[in-house]
Parts: sequence; C-alpha cells; structure tokens
Amino acid sequence: MAFKYVILGGGVAAGYAAREFANQGVKPGELAIISKEAVAPYERPALSKAYLFPEGTARLPGFHVCVGSGGERLLPEWYTEKGISLILSTEIVKADLASKTLISAVGDTYKYQTLIIATGSTVIRLTDFGVQGADAKNIFYLREIDEADKLVEAIKAKKNGKAVVVGGGYIGLELSAALRINNFDVSMVFPEPWCMPRLFTAGIAAFYESYYANKGVNIIKGTVAVGFGTNGNGEVTDVKLKDGRVLEADIVVVGVGGKPLTTLFKGQIEEEKGGIKTDSFFKTSIPDVYAVGDVATFPMKLYDEIRRVEHVDHARKSAEQAVKVWDLIKRLNSNFYVPNSVMMLTEMFLKAFCIDLDTYFQFAIFASEQGKSISEYDYLPYFYSRAFDLSWQFYGDNVGETVLFGDSKPTSPTHKFGSYWIKDGKVVGAFLESGTPEENKAIAKVARVQPPVESLDQLATEGLTFATEM
Ligand code: FDA
Ligand code: NAD
Repeated sequence: MAFKYVILGGGVAAGYAAREFANQGVKPGELAIISKEAVAPYERPALSKAYLFPEGTARLPGFHVCVGSGGERLLPEWYTEKGISLILSTEIVKADLASKTLISAVGDTYKYQTLIIATGSTVIRLTDFGVQGADAKNIFYLREIDEADKLVEAIKAKKNGKAVVVGGGYIGLELSAALRINNFDVSMVFPEPWCMPRLFTAGIAAFYESYYANKGVNIIKGTVAVGFGTNGNGEVTDVKLKDGRVLEADIVVVGVGGKPLTTLFKGQIEEEKGGIKTDSFFKTSIPDVYAVGDVATFPMKLYDEIRRVEHVDHARKSAEQAVKVWDLIKRLNSNFYVPNSVMMLTEMFLKAFCIDLDTYFQFAIFASEQGKSISEYDYLPYFYSRAFDLSWQFYGDNVGETVLFGDSKPTSPTHKFGSYWIKDGKVVGAFLESGTPEENKAIAKVARVQPPVESLDQLATEGLTFATEM
C-alpha cells in the first residue's frame, strides 16, 4: 500500500495531527495512520484516572481525541468520512527511511512520501533489570488501553485486595489513588527521599505524602522491589524489598519510567537526549520525515536548549505544528509550481548563507504572498496531574531556588498552595494545587514572562497574588 502521508503511531499526537491534516484539506486516500493499538487515537491520560474509577468510569468512545483539549471527538467514522486510512492492530517492525518503506509484523509493506513519527514511549520494565519474579501474573504496567483493560479485570477479580505500587512518579501517584478509590489496601514504594522527585520539591511532596497517608496509602520510601513471590498459578503474592521487608500483594502496578520508542530508526536518523532530533518545525535530519510527541527532541526556544517532553500538551501542539509546516510547503509547491531541481538549487544557495529553507519560505515568500506565516515552536512546558480530589498544574522550568506559598497543610479544607522557582533573579517556574482556571492562567503567564523578584521572602508573602496581580 502507498500513501502520500503516513503517521506512524496512533496515539495522542497522531490524532491531533490527523485533525490538523483535515483542517488543511488533506484529500481522501492521501493520509494513513498505522497503529499497534486496536482503537482510534484517544486521550491517553484518561487511562490512569477515570478509566480505573469504580464510578463515573470513562470508556471509549467517550475520550477519543480531541476532547482532552475541549475539541471535537474524532470517532472512527470521522476518519472514514475524511478518507483517512486507520490501519489498526498493525505493528511496524522495520522502517527503511532511505526507500521510504515500513514493514509490519505480518509482512505488509507501506510506502510513503512524507512520514510523521509519533511512536510515543514505552514503559521501563523490572524484567529489564532482571528483578526476580518480575514476570509473574498480576504485575501490571500502564501505557496502552489493553493494559488498562487487564488491570480493570484484575481490580474486579481481586476485589478489596492488597496492591503494591512500585514507583513514586506520575504513574505511582495516580495509580495509588485509583487503587485506593477501588478500596484496595495500597502500599507505594520508591527509592527517592520524596515522591515525584523530578518535579516536586521536598515541600510540595510533603503535602502529597501526608494527604495520601490520610487516605490510607502506605508510603515506603528509600527502597526498591528486588523480587516477587508467586503462588502455584504463577500469580504474584508478595513483593520483596531491598531493605528486607516483604509486602503481601494481589496486584502490583509498576511505574518506573518510560523511554521513547526510537528503535526502528536507530542508525538512520539523528538522535539526541534519547529522542529523535528535530528543528522547531519538527523536521528530522532526514528529508520528508517529521517526529512529534514523546519521541521528539526539539529546540525549546524559551530556554535556548534542546529537550524532550513526555506530556500530552506537547504531544498535541507539536503534532499541529508539524502538520502546519507540511501544509505550508505543500501549498507553496502547488501555488508556485516550483520544480524539485529549482527547490534543490535554492536550498543549496540558502544553505551557503546559513539560511534554513523553511525559514526562507515561511517568512519570505509565503508570508508575503499569503499574508501568513508559521512561527517557530515556542513551547512553555505544562504538566498536570489529578488524583483523589486533588489537581495541580505546573508551568515553566523547575530550576533554581524555590519558594513555597499558600496553605499546604494536608488537613486543610482548601489545600490551595504552590511554589515558584527562581533563577537569576527571575521567576521561571510555577506550581499550583487546586487553582481556579484564572489562577492557573496567571501562573502560566508568570512562567512565560519570567518577572524579576527582589526578595524571596516578599514573594513567599505575596504568594498567589504575585501571579494574579501581575
Ligand atoms: P502515544 O504513546 O500517545 O502514542 C504512541 C502510539 O504509537 C501508540 O498508539 C503505540 O501503540 C503506537 N506505536 C508505537 N510503536 C509502534 C509501531 N512500531 N507500530 C505501530 N504503532 C506503534 N501527560 C500529561 O501531560 N498529563 C497526564 O495526565 C498524563 N497522563 C498519562 C497517563 C498514562 C497512563 C500515560 C501512559 C501517559 C500519560 N501522560 C500524561 C503522558 C501523555 O499521554 C503522553 O506524553 C502522550 O500520550 C504522548 O503522545 P504520543 O502520541 O507521542 O505517544
Ligand atoms: P516517572 O518518571 O514519572 O516516575 C518514575 C519513578 O520510578 C521515579 O520517580 C522513581 O520513584 C521510580 N523508580 C525508578 N526506579 C525504581 C525502582 N527500581 N523501584 C521503584 N521505583 C523506581 O515515570 P512513570 O510514573 O512511570 O510514568 C511513565 C510515563 O507516563 C512518563 O512519560 C510520564 O510522563 C507519563 N505519565 C504522565 C502523567 C501525567 O503527566 N500526569 C501521568 C501518568 C503517566
């Protein structure tokens, strides 16, 4: 099969890219999405939240993209109407970028003219470290919907049982809460001195740890799982910790991090910081190949640094940015009928003067002809999480000194508190628990504008008003 455009991967970025392709007028038959998963693109964050709840449960088709950002829900019929081929339950096992060919596990061949790599991340497994018994039944990881379905079945089968959650990051915190809501006796184990260490300060973490403890979650810090006991059916029965403790378990959920799925392209494409290196328009080192979402290592203009981001907001926005760029080049070609040889000569000429071809086209030719341009991706990092009745948002960069503000007592009825990160005398990051939409907007603005601060004490006293009155 041959397509003009192929999106490899059928997750969040793929769904948002498809919507943008449709907005830009992709023709029927031109675009295909190839996905290992059996369902159309959906909002992955739901899997660790309402998908697991005993009440108010989320199920497909309720959370297909793009509902997560308040947009239209793209049901499978939408793709049919637009003439977009959804090639599901199809794992690509070989990619040859030189011949523009993808080969599936059953040997089918897919040719493309332009490829968007949107393969996302996969989980790090305890079996990767040779942890004894880590392949036992009822040890779960959570990335895709079929894994969430297996977990839901186990939650029903082991009703009111004991669960051990290994990992103290996003999955650890969200799954401990979901299992507790399902009335499991939950222990959460992680090696660091406090939970979510890659974002939380000790002060922020102290609130969540106490809050979780009050909800009945047993938090065990500073140690790791080194083995699992099993019964005659091969089901997990206990978790052995490095410090010698043994925890009974009917279910274990592991969230010890993810890694971007770049293996198909190893040696064929430039990589950096574990991901596929792109420019600000998500073009990779290979012509006609783009990378978006979790797999892309892109220039983060705000910090003048290249980074990879494993969060849904960036997956959505990077996908839209990549397709907009594609559309611009396509329209440029069709509007001006530039032959390939002329394009190549122009590119060589511009490169000699260190001018990027796209930048030239976007800001010079197309902008002036159409009165339109596409700016470089200028991403403000945005992460969030929800668990129990808590909900936090973070914007910016978590570097430098920190100031905790507000009411962070775990027993407080409002628990509205937050933190600022200050670097070189400027506020560069802001975190807020239980903010209103306006307050969240205000902290986002602070992180983007990076206002100067003279005194950290004064900032702590002003707290949230520093953001809301800016
Ligand atoms: P994504 O993982 O969504 O999609 C990748 C797709 O590619 C999958 O369909 C996969 O099957 C497919 N694929 C991979 N290799 C393939 C191959 N060889 N052949 C065919 N198909 C292939 N973020 C956030 O900001 N807030 C949140 O609350 C959450 N919550 C959350 C919960 C859970 C359970 C997870 C796992 C993740 C989150 N995230 C999150 C992170 C967020 O979901 C993530 O950053 C985006 O889904 C990334 O979007 P991508 O499209 O890049 O990958
Ligand atoms: P993570 O990086 O957030 O957390 C990994 C945690 O694993 C570490 O904090 C550490 O506590 C723990 N750990 C590491 N080695 C360990 C070991 N040997 N034993 C016990 N604990 C160990 O990764 P995650 O929570 O697994 O999440 C996976 C992916 O899913 C990430 O890309 C994340 O961004 C995404 N996700 C995001 C959200 C969100 O943004 N709200 C929610 C769920 C998942």
